[in-house]
Amino acid sequence: MRHIIDLSDLTEKEFSDLYKLTNNIIDRPEGYTDACRGKVLGSLFYEPSTRTNLSFSTAMMRLGGSVVGFSDPGSSSTAKGETLKDTINMVSSYADLIVMRNPREGAAKAASLYSSVPVINAGDGGHLHPTQTLTDMVTILRLRGSADNMKIGLCGDLKYGRTVHSLLHFLERYHNVEFYLIAPDALKLPSYMITFLKEHNMPYCEVGSIDAVLPELDVLYMTRIQRERFVSAQEYANLEGNYQLTAEKMRRAKKDMLVLHPLPRVDEIAQDVDDDPRAVYFRQARFGMFGRMALLLTLSKLPFVRAVHQEIGARGLRCSNHKCITKTELYLPPLSGMAGGRCPYCDAPLEKAE
Ligand code: NCD
Repeated sequence: MRHIIDLSDLTEKEFSDLYKLTNNIIDRPEGYTDACRGKVLGSLFYEPSTRTNLSFSTAMMRLGGSVVGFSDPGSSSTAKGETLKDTINMVSSYADLIVMRNPREGAAKAASLYSSVPVINAGDGGHLHPTQTLTDMVTILRLRGSADNMKIGLCGDLKYGRTVHSLLHFLERYHNVEFYLIAPDALKLPSYMITFLKEHNMPYCEVGSIDAVLPELDVLYMTRIQRERFVSAQEYANLEGNYQLTAEKMRRAKKDMLVLHPLPRVDEIAQDVDDDPRAVYFRQARFGMFGRMALLLTLSKLPFVRAVHQEIGARGLRCSNHKCITKTELYLPPLSGMAGGRCPYCDAPLEKAE
């Protein structure tokens, strides 16, 4: 474990140690107030964020460390045309850890190639968001005891919702989990994620409404429609307001079902659900801060290693995803079909370069 691009980068043992540490911090936070004294977190947010940004900063401060960085790329040298490579090269010579959110898919992986300190992916476009998955897993494990033997509904924007993609990747390691994918046609799970479910024998069923499956579910993972990733405003307007959870609907759900949401919520969960004890999304956000404390503490103990510029593969192929980091950072190592024809940065299919 060095860079956290996807939570599935962690072995079972590494994740179980991280979860144990998270629990210890939740139960005895006063024991960790100096655990990262003298350490500096470089926090690079190229995209808006409230919870992820603030919870990482708070996590570092609660460990006695400090934070430098930006939450608006307009105030960094990116606005002057600096490459991601140069920014990461610099920041990794100032800070002990880097957390980065970027709208380009595969950006965290690209950054990790040029960093001498651990890089944590805080969201790369619609691709992955591993520390949200850590947050989700801590919530499910603490409140349910286990992530095995459950029926989980994932509802809303399954196309652009990176939290859903990351969570599905990680749940692959649990047993007897059934997935209900609840989304309108325009926001269905991307085909590369469906392939992932099939390849890993993860039973799934695509359904068109919450009502169809609600009484079956043990966990309902709600998401908002990602307005900022829509190409057309009209397309967004047509879908906003669909797939809403209300107190009325909750009457048909199991007594111990958990409602999770990575937040921010727009109107997909009505305000009248908030007082229901099964609605755990605000507790979830707090667990996220403790999970991030455990992650920062664990990674901060790793030694500084000068970045080696690795070759990712052979020439002659390009990524088919126009949002991929390889489309803007043209110096990145060439792509190969090694990973089963998938882009090693963003997982989209590779195609022959002209
Ligand atoms: C999510 C994100 O940024 O992907 N928010 C978060 O990190 N808690 C979900 C979202 O923006 O809808």
